[in-house]
Amino acid sequence: MKPVYLLISLLLITLMACSTMKEMKEKQAMISIIPKPVSVIQHEGQFILDKNSSLEFNSSDKDLISISEYFNSILIKSAGFQLPINNKSSKKIILKLVTEKIGKEGYELNVTDNEVVIKGNDYPGIFYGIESLLQLLPPEIYSKTKVANIEWSIPAATIKDAPKYQWRGMHLDVSRHFFKTDVVKRYIDYLAYHKLNVFHWHLTDDQGWRIEIKKYPKLSEISAWRVDRTGINWNEREQAKQGEKTPYGGFYTQDEVKDVIEYAAKRYITIVPEIEMPGHALAVLAAYPELSCTGGPFMVAGGQYWPITHIFCAGNDDTFTFLENVLDEVMALFPGKYIHIGGDEAAKDEWQKCPKCQARIKAEGLKDEVELQSYFVKRIEKFVASKGKTLIGWDEIIDGGLPERAAVMSWRGMEGGTLAMKEGHDVVMSPYQFVYFDYLQGDKAKEPEGPGAILPLEKVYSFEPMPEGIDKNLQKHLLGGQANVWTEFIPTEARIEYMLFPRIAALSESVWTESSQKDYKDFMKRMDTQRKRYDALKVDYAKTAWGYK
Ligand code: ACM
Ligand code: ZN
Repeated sequence: MKPVYLLISLLLITLMACSTMKEMKEKQAMISIIPKPVSVIQHEGQFILDKNSSLEFNSSDKDLISISEYFNSILIKSAGFQLPINNKSSKKIILKLVTEKIGKEGYELNVTDNEVVIKGNDYPGIFYGIESLLQLLPPEIYSKTKVANIEWSIPAATIKDAPKYQWRGMHLDVSRHFFKTDVVKRYIDYLAYHKLNVFHWHLTDDQGWRIEIKKYPKLSEISAWRVDRTGINWNEREQAKQGEKTPYGGFYTQDEVKDVIEYAAKRYITIVPEIEMPGHALAVLAAYPELSCTGGPFMVAGGQYWPITHIFCAGNDDTFTFLENVLDEVMALFPGKYIHIGGDEAAKDEWQKCPKCQARIKAEGLKDEVELQSYFVKRIEKFVASKGKTLIGWDEIIDGGLPERAAVMSWRGMEGGTLAMKEGHDVVMSPYQFVYFDYLQGDKAKEPEGPGAILPLEKVYSFEPMPEGIDKNLQKHLLGGQANVWTEFIPTEARIEYMLFPRIAALSESVWTESSQKDYKDFMKRMDTQRKRYDALKVDYAKTAWGYK
């Protein structure tokens, strides 16, 4: 070979090597998993998912069957085919429960040209492996309709992953506005896509009671319905007048509740039901005014009048009988460990004036109405614990003394939760400064109607549930973190989506990913792909963080 050809050949080889490396780099950027896994290593090659692929697993395992059905239910919509099971195909996705240490809710996902292997020590782990597999596929995999002209390629990779916290929660208020079960199920899907595992269902409040209780039919007949003040700012609505028609509302039958619980369970999501007491109870009192301090009459609130001073009477034993009967039915429905009893924002005005409440304070040797609330919560806690469940409440339940076994959800900041952790209580951090998704995502002028406060995406991303500087030996008391969607200003599913997305992605990383792995710039890079997934889902996400583009 002439030296000049040799030179040209060398140049060509170098150029080819560079272009392969460039391609690899480009492919590297293609893997955009949210929340960010512990480790992602991309290899050369890809697995092409098509009709000739199959799923392989122990077919007598009910959970693995359920996980495979879940995967196929997504595939059938967007790809238009489902994978057969255990048909000895040469290209397969293998699901394996293993004993080698991977970690609680963790998974290992290994993709080669002919095989995808998902391993976990438990079913949630394998399920999260499937969620990551979906994110390795083109974003169109989330489409609800069949996508044409697309190659369902999965880049070869090795991914190791496990969550940072055991409580990765999202809450939804269905009292201020009511949402039917199909909306709730889609919401649960969104949680699953982000590897969240707790759905906190805010079922009762001043503006509506949303769960059928067989023993108290008036909760469905009266408490579930309010005046319709649609179109008027939530905070400026005129109070309901006695005798006014109450056409707005709805409730879930117990069969519907069971159906939603089952739907969530298939996605390894536990539902924590919330039954509010002693405050946020006006809807109940509209139906059962005898449980108030004054006797009523009351109407279910059609907007915000603050404070709503009519709360359950703590001096009346019938209040406790009622609540215990309600909780009995609630606890029989929900299989999870935790029962949320609210406990927030209970105005004490009526208790101060009520002879029964004052008699209770005296009889129990309590100092004041704050201690009366503590008496209330402790009495309910005893009942809940007697049924083998654990009470959790908003951080006001600390005031006046916390029941020994209760868990705390800290919303007024991190302080309440930190204090409770120091006293040995389990805690979920949900501080309004970081995770109240009813707050606007940017400038009021550009965002839909809502409360005044602003909570941008980057602020959510900066949420760290662990209190700074807390002792190592107390850290085990932090269960995790949660974001809340209060729906005063959220009348439709589209608005839920707007407020939830993309902040749910930031939350997921705050509760899943190690702090040392978190980086907002890197997150936003991965969000470019995540947006495409939201596009495929056809959810109306906020574009605030991208300058509305
Ligand atoms: C709350 O936001 N009142 C818990
Ligand atoms: Zn009273």
